[in-house]
Amino acid sequence: MSPRISEEKIEEIRKSVDIVDMISEYVQLKKQGRNFVGLCPFHGEKTPSFSVSPDKQLYHCFGCGAGGNVFSFLMELDGLSFIESVEKIANRTNVELPELESGQKDEDRYGEERKYWYKGHELAAKLYHHILSATDEGREAREYLRKRGFTKEVIDTFQIGYAPNSWDFLTTFLEKRQLPMNEIVKSGLLAVREFDQKPFDRFRDRIMFPIWDRQGNIIAFGGRILKDGNPKYLNSPESEVFNKSQTLYSFHIARPSMRKKNEAILFEGYVDVTSAWRAGIDNGVATLGTALTEAQGKMLRRNVDKVIICYDSDNAGQEATFKNAQLLEQLGLNIRVAQLPDGNDPDDYIRENGSERFVQNIIGQSLTFMGFKFRFYRKGKNLNDEGDRMEYIQQVLTEISKLPRAVERDHYLRQLAEEFSLSLDALKQEQVQIYKSHIRKEKHDQNNRPLEKKMTVRPQKKLLSAHENAERILLAYMLQKREIADQVQEKIGGTFNIDEHQAIAAHLYSFYAEGYDSNLSFFIERLNDKELKQLATELAMMTLNEELSEQELNDYIKQIENYPKKIQINELKLEQKKAEESGQVEEAAKIAMDIIQLEQQLKNSIRNDL
Ligand code: GTP
Ligand code: MN
Repeated sequence: MSPRISEEKIEEIRKSVDIVDMISEYVQLKKQGRNFVGLCPFHGEKTPSFSVSPDKQLYHCFGCGAGGNVFSFLMELDGLSFIESVEKIANRTNVELPELESGQKDEDRYGEERKYWYKGHELAAKLYHHILSATDEGREAREYLRKRGFTKEVIDTFQIGYAPNSWDFLTTFLEKRQLPMNEIVKSGLLAVREFDQKPFDRFRDRIMFPIWDRQGNIIAFGGRILKDGNPKYLNSPESEVFNKSQTLYSFHIARPSMRKKNEAILFEGYVDVTSAWRAGIDNGVATLGTALTEAQGKMLRRNVDKVIICYDSDNAGQEATFKNAQLLEQLGLNIRVAQLPDGNDPDDYIRENGSERFVQNIIGQSLTFMGFKFRFYRKGKNLNDEGDRMEYIQQVLTEISKLPRAVERDHYLRQLAEEFSLSLDALKQEQVQIYKSHIRKEKHDQNNRPLEKKMTVRPQKKLLSAHENAERILLAYMLQKREIADQVQEKIGGTFNIDEHQAIAAHLYSFYAEGYDSNLSFFIERLNDKELKQLATELAMMTLNEELSEQELNDYIKQIENYPKKIQINELKLEQKKAEESGQVEEAAKIAMDIIQLEQQLKNSIRNDL
């Protein structure tokens, strides 16, 4: 928490946005009872366990335990600091924030420096764009792009530019702007000479593609060489803000359309994205010359249900399609694969055949993932050759046996039987065999699975014991109703049996003591410890009856009070046994008396209740 933006201000900002609206921008939510549910953006899952409460202004995932309010959501999802998340919402809802002193920013993880990094990249992009669009130095690049079909609209939308063939063009420009050069170098925008650490232009004589983060800040460039040469593309080095494996080219441009269409198109290259955009495909993104990662997959998963993969028709492109489709399917996405004629990438195809044919014949005719696999396994095989044919059938049957639905399996088995004039029964038998041996292998592999493959799901919670359950329910009521907290405080103070529960109760008592009324989101905001925050959120999200009767309240309190006695009785019984075994008869009798007394107390506490 920053002590310098007042709590009232932070409350004002928090209240200026509705958590359901905000989270809807990242997660598809469906109404369910009083809450909204969707797929958790913090771990991969296929059935929704992520829940958002408009009444409580909180979210919570029953799968991975993530939870909190609007600020914690942005902090976790976009990797923002607390202040950044506050600023982001304030900007969005036009709540005025007091100007922060620079000292305050230093407490932030990146704070001020990042501003310079973004500023430097933004200025560079503007400069490069200007050079390309309107100067003599940019003429050759301009002509090159025009020949490749880039329109002015594309160049403007993607802020494409040209870096002139100079060692100090951008460096001098930024120096004149009095930006701190050490920060600019750290951001990767400029390179430095080894022998005297002087900065110089990293990108020379290249077409410049700005790369944005999810919020639309330029964080890097991809520079394509104008003529032939190596490397064809030069990317900015990775930095604290530029992580290739967590960035997708054009993501922030494509996001509104992705969400509207509930569909994204995944390309291999920058130029494929921009060319497809010209053809009217405005929901396209691309990786940055590296393999698709789970983080990138999840970025897509948070926004769409369906992804069409549109890669080069060459072998490398098809292999990558297979891998990426598998990864995305495991994240619960519905996959299609667009197939290009041999020797084409999407950009070539559009230039040769036009936008309309691209949209209709390529994107419009994309295959299901299974359809793609049928084709994929056919490559390099001669199906007239019996050996090849058997191998092919085996591969396809293996894929079919992974399908969860019987109707689907049946559909493809029939297709296969028909194509190769085989008996459907024989194919079915074979497929079941494959399925069984697969299951056996899975069981065997389960223990040897690599660590990163294991989902970050919390282990299934054991059944809660009575006292733990009682503490949770009481705390849930206490969070929602101040009167109940007052009553509990009077009766048992902070003597909860579970440490975390004790901590939450203590925080809650002091929160109410400061004069606040129940305010779940605000209270959780003030908890500094992340684990505690998540637990408090989980409790706050519990659905409770309107009323808690005196009787119920007392029952719960008794569960809590009796637990230490039960523990004590158990311990005494052990001692008693030991004493008996070692012949200390007197000692054993004394312990027995203590036990009886405690048991009496327990009984009385219950009888009083009746
Ligand atoms: P054009 O050749 O201009 O049509 O670009 P392209 O996007 O079609 O290039 P290509 O299909 O060869 O490569 C696809 C993507 O891989 C590019 O957009 C880059 O992100 C990446 N890439 C290609 N070549 C290089 C390279 O030499 N270095 C790096 N770092 N990335 C590259
Ligand atoms: Mn290309």
